[in-house]
Amino acid sequence: MKRFTIKIGLAFSGLALLFSGCNQGGSTSNGALSSSAAEKVYVAPGEQDEYYAFLSGGYSGNLTVYGLPSGRMFKEIPVFSQFPTSGYGYSEESKPLLNTSHGFIPWDDLHHPDISQTNGELDGRWIFVNGNNTPRIARISLSTFETEEIIEVPNSAGNHSSSFITENTEYVVAGTRFSVPVPQRDMPINEYKGNFKGALTFISVDPEHGHMDIKFQVIMPGFNYDLSHPGRGDSHGWFFFSTYNTEEASTLQEVNASQNDKDFIAAINWKKIEEYINNGGGTTMPTNYAHNVYDESRHMATSTMKKEVLTVDPTQVPGAVFLLPTPKSPHGCDVDPSGQYIIGSGKLSADITVHSFNKMLAAIEGEKFDGEAYGIPILNFEEVLAGTVKSGGLGPLHTEFDGKGNAYTTFFISSEVVKWQLESWEVVDRKPTFYSVGHLMIPGGNSRKPFGKYVVAMNKITKDRYLPTGPEMEHSAQIYDISGEKMELLYDFPTHGEPHYAAGCPAELLRANSKRIYRLDENNHPYGIKSPADARVERNGSEVHIYMSTIRSHFTPDNIEGVKVGDKVYFHVTNHEQDFDVPHGFAAIGANTSEILVMPGQTKTIVWEPKQVGVWPFYCTDFCSALHQEMQGYVRVSPKNSNIELSWSVGE
Ligand code: CUA
Repeated sequence: MKRFTIKIGLAFSGLALLFSGCNQGGSTSNGALSSSAAEKVYVAPGEQDEYYAFLSGGYSGNLTVYGLPSGRMFKEIPVFSQFPTSGYGYSEESKPLLNTSHGFIPWDDLHHPDISQTNGELDGRWIFVNGNNTPRIARISLSTFETEEIIEVPNSAGNHSSSFITENTEYVVAGTRFSVPVPQRDMPINEYKGNFKGALTFISVDPEHGHMDIKFQVIMPGFNYDLSHPGRGDSHGWFFFSTYNTEEASTLQEVNASQNDKDFIAAINWKKIEEYINNGGGTTMPTNYAHNVYDESRHMATSTMKKEVLTVDPTQVPGAVFLLPTPKSPHGCDVDPSGQYIIGSGKLSADITVHSFNKMLAAIEGEKFDGEAYGIPILNFEEVLAGTVKSGGLGPLHTEFDGKGNAYTTFFISSEVVKWQLESWEVVDRKPTFYSVGHLMIPGGNSRKPFGKYVVAMNKITKDRYLPTGPEMEHSAQIYDISGEKMELLYDFPTHGEPHYAAGCPAELLRANSKRIYRLDENNHPYGIKSPADARVERNGSEVHIYMSTIRSHFTPDNIEGVKVGDKVYFHVTNHEQDFDVPHGFAAIGANTSEILVMPGQTKTIVWEPKQVGVWPFYCTDFCSALHQEMQGYVRVSPKNSNIELSWSVGE
């Protein structure tokens, strides 16, 4: 007995030695564990990340670009919000992008990015995002990383089950969250039930240029359409939308929209509807919405108001629309890589409901209906159910897939990511999130071919994860390694705005195609100039147009006289550099707009309306060379009735 005790004592002192050895090395309390996690996210100086991640900015209105696994932010792409960093929404060229039927709207609530696909795999051409508040869909080029097109969505309100694309980017789909009178009209709110409608909009995408056009809207019952995902593989040609508020309540929805034990996932056979309208079906409805397109050759956006939209009454297309009962106010509506399983995450439930596409087809064939809603058949729940995941968590929201037969679901209320197996429906792992996770993202997770190495959890609550920054904190994302059997939390990183969903892809899909400069010989901007020799100043009544050149490190012209109080002065600034990463900026004192940042070979315009007599400087806002501080000029502003001749010069 005594010898035994001694042995234990020795063993303990040995352990103590081991630990003190570690501590002498200065490592933190997690020791070896945290160093292996650190290695997995460490991207050494000068090296590059393995994946791009595009995180929605929520109420920032913009999209942010990160690297994985480092969590480093590379760029904020302005989409729905004015952005002084580049002059987006302030420059004359970009303002038309923010035009709507409600006028110029320089903000939105950007929710769900989705990368274009070919044959169900990411093709890296464009990324689509939705504006939730004033319903819009934007298309961003993944070559320039700039917003190229924004289309407003009429008859929609709270454009939330958007913007998700079909397997070959035939359509980008936008579903309304809030049902509204369609068409909009003056009516009592308490007559909502049966009178409000939910529009699900199918926007065609030109396969060559990506240009968007509203092909049709399915005018559905007045439910709330929360999220949606495309079918793929066998289910290509279908689209699935989660619904809540099937009670059609217009007030106190936190209670009144949670009465039904089950809401629905709406299954839409868009191929059938496409056929119907191609054969002359559908009703043209007068409406008003903006379609805004940026022309890269002219470096300029234009806005066109459209006046009608083709609507489809689902009861007029038999076999096209069905409702799948789904407990309990489902949020996520996610389709696995095979296209066979449709996952409904009832956010007031503990379990995850999985519908089977094949069983759905069989139930339709066998007419296994449980009544109808406004003429749309409701399929029998048991007949379409593939399985139920007994999660042990609370508040499932959203599911992504690793392509190896596993699904990962976020749980908002129990703050965790739960890993489970398709077809066995068994939970195999769970890890806490910090805190209250919303969406998650696996690169390619909404496609036939996910890249199941990392999952990024986007959390709604940050609390103690970072140094405090007053009452307002950035949200927190977390990266987990999912390459092994068990998930491993690697890293926290802050995000900007409020990410709702994200999309990611391997870096090599985009890296080689990323544009470096705009070629001057392809610059067809009507106010651009091909060389500094073409720089000039012209007056047209009270408008003054300055055709300005920038090249390291001066403006041409840099002295301008003969401008008068009350003039409207347009600075059309062309950057004549043709080297990668040499922008010049431009700002003028008292301009009630932001600076502009002009990329090599690009032309941008700001308007300046001088209010005061004097000699006023302008300067370059981007540190472009060792002589950047010298890159400035002056405008002489004379009284309104002055007869000073308009003149300009450089080097005189
Ligand atoms: Cu050009 Cu600083």
